[in-house]
Amino acid sequence: MIEKDVSNAGMARGVPPVWADGHALDVGAIRRQFPILKREVNGHPLVYLDSANTSQKPEPVIAALDDYYRRYNANIHRGVYQIAEEATAAYEAARQKVARFVNARSVREIVFTRNVTEAINLVRYSWGRANVHRGDRILLTEMEHHSNLVPWQLLAAETGAELDFLRIDSQGRLDLEGLDRKLEGVRLLAFAHQSNTLGTINPVPILVAAARRAGAHVLIDGAQAVPHMPVDVQAIGADFYGFTGHKMCGPTGIGVLWARRELLEAMPPFLAGGEMIKRVSLRNASWNELPWKFEAGTQAIAEAIGLGAAVDYLCGLGMAAVREHERALVDYALERMQDVSGITLYGPQDPDLHGGAISFSLANVHPHDLATLIDQEGIAVRAGHHCTQPLMETLGVPATTRASFYVYNRPDEVDQLVGAIGRAQKVFTG
Ligand SMILES: Cc1ncc(COP(=O)(O)O)c(C=O)c1O
Repeated sequence: MIEKDVSNAGMARGVPPVWADGHALDVGAIRRQFPILKREVNGHPLVYLDSANTSQKPEPVIAALDDYYRRYNANIHRGVYQIAEEATAAYEAARQKVARFVNARSVREIVFTRNVTEAINLVRYSWGRANVHRGDRILLTEMEHHSNLVPWQLLAAETGAELDFLRIDSQGRLDLEGLDRKLEGVRLLAFAHQSNTLGTINPVPILVAAARRAGAHVLIDGAQAVPHMPVDVQAIGADFYGFTGHKMCGPTGIGVLWARRELLEAMPPFLAGGEMIKRVSLRNASWNELPWKFEAGTQAIAEAIGLGAAVDYLCGLGMAAVREHERALVDYALERMQDVSGITLYGPQDPDLHGGAISFSLANVHPHDLATLIDQEGIAVRAGHHCTQPLMETLGVPATTRASFYVYNRPDEVDQLVGAIGRAQKVFTG
């Protein structure tokens, strides 16, 4: 159910079924759980449309962090006293929640990292250096976030492997023409489940099946997918799947690498030091069991516990309902935004293929100017290259403005955005 007291946003065009059939997110109740949404910015209620960048945090997540520091702050896996055991139990319980959330076969397949960037770098450093050789090919897409591009550039430079790229079509969808041919000799196919810039939801089953036929390994950057839709790593059948806590209602400083257990068992350690070892002598060391072999040093304990609380929170909402809410918002936003004169919308126009991020540009208005001006109305959007500089080159622009939605956004906020864009346009074009 959508909040009763919002404006009549969307009514003129017909309310999307997700808001009409009573079987959807209770956005009013959700908003009350996010304290930041009570604040004003530049004299206006905050309209937060930058969740693809980082999401806001609900009360249970804030409370989980607070509770850890107030009641049982201690290091994990080493103390024998009560609060250390409580901290260890809460940290490992968070891992179990994450494992269940993405349907991992075992908690041993869930490695905590700082973010998805570190998860991808772990694979590059550990699996990549052991398995990718001169002449091998690494296939990426031209819509990748720098986090899923630069690590492979480094690996290619280090090993003598070659990089190749799947291109996009005019609607920002991957061009799959000749996919099987492109996969010949490919050791690793790495791609984003959902593009942070275009919003494109990539055809994961097709890509994974083709990679399997070619004998390639598959890494999926799930930074923009896990927060927004049901993700089942077993059903997907890739080898590596990474995501990041701060985009899914969790704290910063915590991310996840899921990988098939056999691969993790065979992979050498990434970072070395305390906790990741079984036995150390002056000249040698042996490694801890999974997943701790990949968790060197004191971990982001509070943040992992906070991520566990975020997972509980999202499970409470239901990920199918989250996806449906965003699909309906994007449908509405695409319809409203395409009426703005001088606007170019990037990415698929079909909301079934489009996650909750819409990039656009406005004739004769620089994206940064637009974002700065609409901030005066309390509306937070991102302007820039969104860490996808090669994609900007393909689109032929230096930057775009991006509005991105999450569980707490309402259709009237889309109306406010569209109104503010119109007013900004008048300021710049007279
Ligand atoms: C698709 C995608 N990959 C990777 C990242 C990097 O996330 P983090 O900075 O949390 O590692 C982002 C963040 O915007 C993203 O959207």
